[in-house]
Amino acid sequence: MTKIDVLLGLQWGDEGKGKIVDVLTPRYDVVARFQGGPNAGHTLEFNGTKHVLHIIPSGIFHQEKINLIGNGVLIEPRIFRQEIEALTEKGVDAVKNLFISKKAHLILPSHRMMDAANEQAKGNSKIGSTLKGIGPAYTDKIARTGLRVGDIMSADFIEHYGQLKRQHLMMAHAMGFDVDQFRIDGMTLGEYEKVWLESLATLKKFRFVNSEYFINQCLREDKKVLAEGAQAMMLDIDFGTYPFVTSSNTITAGVCTGLGVAPSAIGKVMGITKAYCTRVGAGPFPTELFDETGKRLCELGHEYGATTGRPRRCGWIDLTALRYACMINGVTELYVTKPDVMNDFETVNMCTAYDIEGQRTDEIPFEYNTVHIDPVLTPFEGWKQSLEGITAYDQLPEKLRRYLGAIEEQTGVKIAAVSISPDRKDVVFKD
Ligand code: GDP
Ligand code: IMO
Ligand code: MG
Repeated sequence: MTKIDVLLGLQWGDEGKGKIVDVLTPRYDVVARFQGGPNAGHTLEFNGTKHVLHIIPSGIFHQEKINLIGNGVLIEPRIFRQEIEALTEKGVDAVKNLFISKKAHLILPSHRMMDAANEQAKGNSKIGSTLKGIGPAYTDKIARTGLRVGDIMSADFIEHYGQLKRQHLMMAHAMGFDVDQFRIDGMTLGEYEKVWLESLATLKKFRFVNSEYFINQCLREDKKVLAEGAQAMMLDIDFGTYPFVTSSNTITAGVCTGLGVAPSAIGKVMGITKAYCTRVGAGPFPTELFDETGKRLCELGHEYGATTGRPRRCGWIDLTALRYACMINGVTELYVTKPDVMNDFETVNMCTAYDIEGQRTDEIPFEYNTVHIDPVLTPFEGWKQSLEGITAYDQLPEKLRRYLGAIEEQTGVKIAAVSISPDRKDVVFKD
């Protein structure tokens, strides 16, 4: 029996998970998503074309590989249909190699309405949700009122759908939310519902499976399985910067519940970090830069959300957060992306600890959201050189290797590879 390898983000998302999964897929037989849903935006680039995936695993462009949407994932049928249509246009027939868990929960149009209602009710303390209905759909899952993919086939599906929708409408009215004014992609709730219900037909073309048996059978047959994380450590519902988080366990433990594999079946844990740091949406970000350097990171790194188009907040890499991420996830190897964005920087800073009210700490405090944190920065000389065309680790500029070496030293985890452009071909493996 083989073990399942895990790849996940160690910061606040958008570390380049999609790209790295795409690069690693040839080494695997199965790629499986275990949590999150259309809040994710995973970008892949090859042959001069960019592709963004939301619900579908990033192994899908390798048509001979199995892709699985696990029970821990949320599916929004209309967004799923749009993704499938985009793939079809590119000549990818996902029906052949994409399997879906019967236990994956559905995002209803009224979940998306409730997402908007909840955000509106928060006033100035908005989370900055992607408004894809993630929070409300996971809420119904935990409240045991949700609908799952397998339910679509049952005769009373529409009845249950109606009951749940009515509950949401009652809640929205009680919150003073103006349902009539609410729009999804310019459509009223009723108009969107129609499109959503039609989209179920696309979903039904796929093979619905008991994914926990499916995945364990794969492991028994010594198939190599890669679990693809969405969002990231610092957005985890338990260990992230609560309440400025998403509503799922984005961490390694989430693989066990989101796919149905035992903890003892976890193999390598590959953690991804940018060479700097970004965050989209509200919440603490101690190393955030509000100056020209922050703007440069945003512009040079094209830091605009792959799902919402919002500009991402940018700052220096945070080793206090990264050490925490390595601890919680049991990271066995690191992937560092986007150092190329800082090629022209005179100085690159690394945060190695926090000063909080005169006290130095290397822990994430419970009061993360409320205390003022001064990041303790260690400056590194910039490498001032293009990384284009580099194919071996020892060809990387010495000053960059020194910076990467400090990341290894600070986390106690070795770097497996460095990504130096958005393109599939530009990943430099260390060994
Ligand atoms: P994900 O959500 O973790 O899959 O990451 P996103 O796709 O949301 O954001 C990562 C962005 O950085 C995408 O636009 C990628 O094309 C891009 N990217 C990934 N790796 C690199 C890299 O090494 N260098 C540069 N310059 N861009 C990268
Ligand atoms: P990928 O997989 C970055 C953020 C949102 C918001 C918070 C809650 O592309 O890395 P939600 O819609 O989940 O209720 O939003 O989490 N967020 C992400 N930020 N990358 C993501 O996914 C994200 N998914 C959610 O911006 O602050
Ligand atoms: Mg993303």
